[in-house]
Amino acid sequence: MSEKKAQLTIDGSAPIDLPIYEGSTGPDVIDVRSLVSKGIFTYDPGFVSTAACDSEITYIDGNAGILLHRGYPIEQLAQKSDFLEVCYLLLNGELPDQVARRGFENDIRYHTMVDQQIHEFFKGFPRTAHPMAMLCGVVGALSAFYHDSLDIDNPEHRQRAAIRIIAKMPTLAAMCYKHGIGQPFMYPKNSMSLAENFVHMLFGTPCDSPNVSPTIAKAVDTLFLLHADHEQNASTSTVRLAGSTGSNPYACVASGIAALWGPAHGGANEAVLDMLYEIGDDSKIEEFILKAKDKDDPFRLMGFGHRVYKNHDPRATVIRGICNDVLAELGKEDDPLFKVALKLEKIALEDEYFIERKLFPNVDFYSGIILKAIGIPTSLFTVIFATGRTPGWMAHWHEMLSESYKIGRPRQLYRGNSKRDYPG
Ligand code: CMC
Repeated sequence: MSEKKAQLTIDGSAPIDLPIYEGSTGPDVIDVRSLVSKGIFTYDPGFVSTAACDSEITYIDGNAGILLHRGYPIEQLAQKSDFLEVCYLLLNGELPDQVARRGFENDIRYHTMVDQQIHEFFKGFPRTAHPMAMLCGVVGALSAFYHDSLDIDNPEHRQRAAIRIIAKMPTLAAMCYKHGIGQPFMYPKNSMSLAENFVHMLFGTPCDSPNVSPTIAKAVDTLFLLHADHEQNASTSTVRLAGSTGSNPYACVASGIAALWGPAHGGANEAVLDMLYEIGDDSKIEEFILKAKDKDDPFRLMGFGHRVYKNHDPRATVIRGICNDVLAELGKEDDPLFKVALKLEKIALEDEYFIERKLFPNVDFYSGIILKAIGIPTSLFTVIFATGRTPGWMAHWHEMLSESYKIGRPRQLYRGNSKRDYPG
């Protein structure tokens, strides 16, 4: 399989040959699996330079600002495709032809409703529950309802489960919101597009249905599309790890939702809004920029910088344009909060500190602004991220189960007490 080799010598020992594999694009990997037989483990907390799997789904080059799904650049997908087509692409590896596209759309439409018992399940949550707490619980609970798609070794079951979860997530996300504000749940309207339907389930009531403009529908669809996958991020790796034990797909996605909840992952868009509120008005921007640059102050400009993208986040470039369209359509360019956001962006982009460190606004900076402008409360932001990320989770889970895989079981560097006897 591999011609290239790395050699490892430990304390003058005979060299150990380690095969090197080449990806189709991107860095090579050294296969260290044989080291365990020599009594050695590798050490890489946070998986900073460890590839835990092979994948053909998504490629990121953070230095060049590139994000490809199945080879297609995210900018082209955002411009020419839509969320459902990207779901199909992630799951199946190729873009659908017209027949496949129609079939997939119908499958999704057919599965948007949730069992009526789920409505009862929601009633058990306090109205004050965080939407992510509810989402985590109800998605895990889906495994109690859909026994016909739980055979993880059957590719048809896996496909059915993927379609079910992708279809039901917008419904469940909207239910999390409706429960919190004490309004009746809205049934999905299958005559609408996925994005229109989502806005309808969020803001509609049995007495009234919102008018969803093409700009808002496009913004919501693009937000979902831009979040659809991001290779082996923390939540996707969590889904893979849970899936490697043979867990059912609903439980695996619930574990992904739990991992996404943290502020270091899916919670950043919420943090952007909190920061904008804290800044309050134009006159305080300079003060916050100084705070962000002060090494003795832990404050960071939320929505700026990225662990992987050290050039620009290609998703941010797409979403910036949409952000402007949404603010213009809703006549919110002069809203004090958005004025602060736009001024902050301008100042930071011209500031030496941010330029030198390649700290560009990331996708979360703009997604928070768009969601807020549409009227979505900040506590629902991560739920919307989860709804968009679901096809990525399912595609990775399906890919792993389609190949030979091992239970995920990291090693450790033990630094505790050596064996000792119990006193007395
Ligand atoms: N504001 C001010 N300074 C910053 C910021 C920021 N937002 N981000 C990084 N820096 C500085 C940092 O202090 C350091 O400076 P120096 O070299 O003088 O010590 C330098 O830039 C490099 O920072 P780092 O911490 O080594 O960079 P990292 O790659 O570990 O961190 C990050 C990436 C995203 C955690 C960080 O940029 C950050 O905290 N940003 C704000 C939070 C945020 O917006 N997160 C959302 C990321 S997108 C989510 C997703 O894709 O899932």
